[in-house]
Amino acid sequence: MAKAAKVKGNKRMAAKKAAPKKSIKKTVKKAAKKTANKVTSKKPTPGKVTVKASDIRRGLVGVIADTTAVSKVVPETNSLTYRGYAVQELADHCTFEEVTYLLLDGELPNRSQLNAFKKKERSLRKLSKNHVDVIAKFPKRAHPMDTIRTAVSYLGTTEVAWGGEPWEADHERAVNLLAKIPTMIATDFRFRNGKRRIPPRTDLSMAENFFYMCFGKVPPKKIVKAFDTSLILYAEHSFNASTFTSRMITSTRSDIYSAVAGGIGALKGPLHGGANEAVMEMMEEIRTPKRAEPWIRDAIANKKLIMGFGHRVYKHGDSRVPTMKICLEHLTEWSGDTKWLEIYNILADIFINEKGIYPNLDFPSGPAYYLMGFPVNLYTPIFVMARIAGWSAHILEQNAANVLIRPLSAYDGKAQRKVKPVAKRK
Ligand SMILES: CC(C)(COP(=O)(O)OP(=O)(O)OC[C@H]1O[C@@H](n2cnc3c(N)ncnc32)[C@H](O)[C@@H]1OP(=O)(O)O)[C@@H](O)C(=O)NCCC(=O)NCCS
Repeated sequence: MAKAAKVKGNKRMAAKKAAPKKSIKKTVKKAAKKTANKVTSKKPTPGKVTVKASDIRRGLVGVIADTTAVSKVVPETNSLTYRGYAVQELADHCTFEEVTYLLLDGELPNRSQLNAFKKKERSLRKLSKNHVDVIAKFPKRAHPMDTIRTAVSYLGTTEVAWGGEPWEADHERAVNLLAKIPTMIATDFRFRNGKRRIPPRTDLSMAENFFYMCFGKVPPKKIVKAFDTSLILYAEHSFNASTFTSRMITSTRSDIYSAVAGGIGALKGPLHGGANEAVMEMMEEIRTPKRAEPWIRDAIANKKLIMGFGHRVYKHGDSRVPTMKICLEHLTEWSGDTKWLEIYNILADIFINEKGIYPNLDFPSGPAYYLMGFPVNLYTPIFVMARIAGWSAHILEQNAANVLIRPLSAYDGKAQRKVKPVAKRK
């Protein structure tokens, strides 16, 4: 009975987040009750669930699906390491390029390896004329996550690729994607605003070049460093939804472009990467620090989902937040626009105090990107340009020791029945 109640509780929670409308919530609740009864049913009939409720892990909560050497998340100590290095230390001492090399190749590069990697990445930034033409044709009202997903797919049509090819072939493709994705995002950004595209430069870092391709200029070093730090923090996070999607697609021996396009699709959702945009939309709705306290108290009273808070793995704070919060403070000081940091502090203090739920990385990233001058719908595409490093590392790892990912399900639909010819159906 207790187990059944737990299943029901999980379903209720999922319904609350995914379907805020009351009627849908009720339907899901009813379905959850039905399933809960079925899983504890002693006399199974054909088509009914015969597994124990404890066998079902909705949302794969707590399931360890495989091993990985790419990164390690330890929620108990709020720590995150990439290939054994603490992410905070990497943010302090390395550039995004060095971290990408680390994720893809397993070790931090020495000076000559880094120079060769940078040279290669810079040489691959330019898009073909056909690729630019495809981007120019995207509907201007499309979300940039949909256009970047399609632009990546286009790249996948320029060659025939499969999973299980030599590591070097996919490594090459990963660096090509890493180099071209920022150009795709910036080109689309310029076109949708009725502006001419700004081709990439080869004398700038990835962070500098992205600012340049979007705005035609590079901001002061401190701002570039804040952006670069955000890319490092967003680069990798073990078996999150988009990475797992990429690994799952790879596990079928499909190609890296399909795996990355799938990852982008998963990242778009506001429960995952889309949260950084949702955070800023929420802050823009709050508008002033004065309105922040009544807003959050009302949201808590009405059990609203507060974007940028909570995490499937971290339950006592996200290891990446303190580093990104410092970047937000630097940006606030630089811009003189203090209201977003003030709103941040009010929301975080009250929500932690009242609910014990902590901000995740998207909470400081949203206002940080705002202060850097990026439009809100570019925040999740920026996440893509960082996470391509992690996705690629996982795709290479999955390919190297592949096993098809294919979980089971507990059926709770109709019992088996006979097909009636169409004339006999009511
Ligand atoms: C990230 C997220 C999907 C994790 O979900 P999860 O692992 O299923 O969450 P939990 O099971 O730990 O949630 C426990 C409780 O906290 C609540 N909760 C979690 N995050 C919350 C939030 N941001 N706002 C309000 N309540 C929240 C849940 O509703 C649940 O309440 P209940 O037990 O009364 O139903 C969830 O926290 C969320 O939707 N956050 C907002 C979106 C976001 O910022 N996403 C980016 C993640 S990096």
